[in-house]
Amino acid sequence: MSRKIHLALHPVGVGGPGQHGLWKDPLVAKNASIDINYYIQQAQAAEHALFDALFIVDSQFINDTYPSHYLNRLEPLTLLSAVATHTRHVGLVGTASSTYNSPFNLARRFASLDHISGGRAGWNVVTSFDTGTSKNYGLDEHLDYATRYGRALEFVQVARGLWDSYEDDAFPADVARDVFLDPARLHALGHAGEHFKVAGPLNISRSAQGQPVIFQAGVSAEGRDLAARVAEGIYAPGGSLEQAQEYYADIKSRTAAYGRDPDHIKVFIHGGPVVGATDEEARRREREIFEEDNNFERNLALLGRSFGAYDFSGHELDAPFPDVSHLAEKGGRTGAAEIIERARVQKLTLRQVAESVSAFRRSPFVGSPETVAGTIEQWFEAGAFDGINLAFRNNDDLSRFIDGVVPLLQKRGLFRTEYEADTLRGNLGLPVPENRHTRERQLVND
Ligand SMILES: Cc1cc2nc3c(=O)[nH]c(=O)nc-3n(C[C@H](O)[C@H](O)[C@H](O)COP(=O)(O)O)c2cc1C
Repeated sequence: MSRKIHLALHPVGVGGPGQHGLWKDPLVAKNASIDINYYIQQAQAAEHALFDALFIVDSQFINDTYPSHYLNRLEPLTLLSAVATHTRHVGLVGTASSTYNSPFNLARRFASLDHISGGRAGWNVVTSFDTGTSKNYGLDEHLDYATRYGRALEFVQVARGLWDSYEDDAFPADVARDVFLDPARLHALGHAGEHFKVAGPLNISRSAQGQPVIFQAGVSAEGRDLAARVAEGIYAPGGSLEQAQEYYADIKSRTAAYGRDPDHIKVFIHGGPVVGATDEEARRREREIFEEDNNFERNLALLGRSFGAYDFSGHELDAPFPDVSHLAEKGGRTGAAEIIERARVQKLTLRQVAESVSAFRRSPFVGSPETVAGTIEQWFEAGAFDGINLAFRNNDDLSRFIDGVVPLLQKRGLFRTEYEADTLRGNLGLPVPENRHTRERQLVND
């Protein structure tokens, strides 16, 4: 069977990072971020178009300069549980922080979503971008990088252990014999590690796909390594074709180095397609979207987010970019370090840095349906991704992609014409992880 492209939809409520003007769009309700029907409608459109998943990002820190969607948003697992009852095939991937959660509680919530959805849950493991989150969880400081990533790895290992608490035949529920549970098929975890101590067992059985699919989002060496060890999907940044190819090859080779099948980790790059009747019309629309968002004060605040929501407004705009390297270490270190280095090499002022970070960049996936489908095909064949995490300006832009581009991808044999399975794993072509206790017993018996 030929390799197929995977597509996920990343709905952005009333505006994600940089989308400062989206809340003013007449097609987007002012309360879209907290309107469950807004998400259900998009999930159903995505399912109708045979997309693999709906992908919900998250944050837990705000101040009054944050993008509109961040100011007023639904908690991802609550949101996805509601969407689950209105869909049947589309995967439901929610972002949850391994820094600000406890494994027992989160494993339980994802296992619940996995049952509610019939085996369609995915967990995007993040270590949390916003340093200010720490103060909402009783910590004065965001944990440092090594601790956050060490904790993330152990967190996933504990969650997976908990998800295997019950073997698949643990509940005979045999009225004649008066046996509900077979206690030999129930396993406590007894985990005591560097970051967590969890007894188990978890009080919920495995789902139709065995365990939720683990996604990860992070670009540093630590982030890539975590993904290579435990992730089955990655939410990767986009960038140029060369950057995407480098990232893809790096993830696949790191995964192989851990003894895993590189095909068992699906790399989804971020993509914001803009489709028009002609290339020219689409490029005009792309520029129009940029202008709707282009606001210097907002861009300056967005720059601050990479440095722990640092307020740059007190600095002289036309003076050299201030020394904020100490603020980069704990937040989005990789992105922040790039900004600092570029400012140093190019001798940029604060104003120039703020402008360049939010400058207009042509997206590769803009044009007529033929152009966009052609570019997607070219990138896919060039080894830039397994899938695209698609974000659209509004539902009209989503429809133009679904109606125009998806049929062309199907015609070229690059995208499915029907769902392969009812579970997220099945549609992504990922194996169902065998219950570790069942496997161990079989090994002993062999
Ligand atoms: C594409 C992408 C999406 C991310 N989504 C989220 C998110 O929704 N919520 C969050 O707190 N952090 C998110 N992160 C942040 C990462 O978890 C991580 O904290 C950050 O990228 C810094 O780590 P790094 O240098 O390893 O990338 C995302 C990162 C990337 C690259």
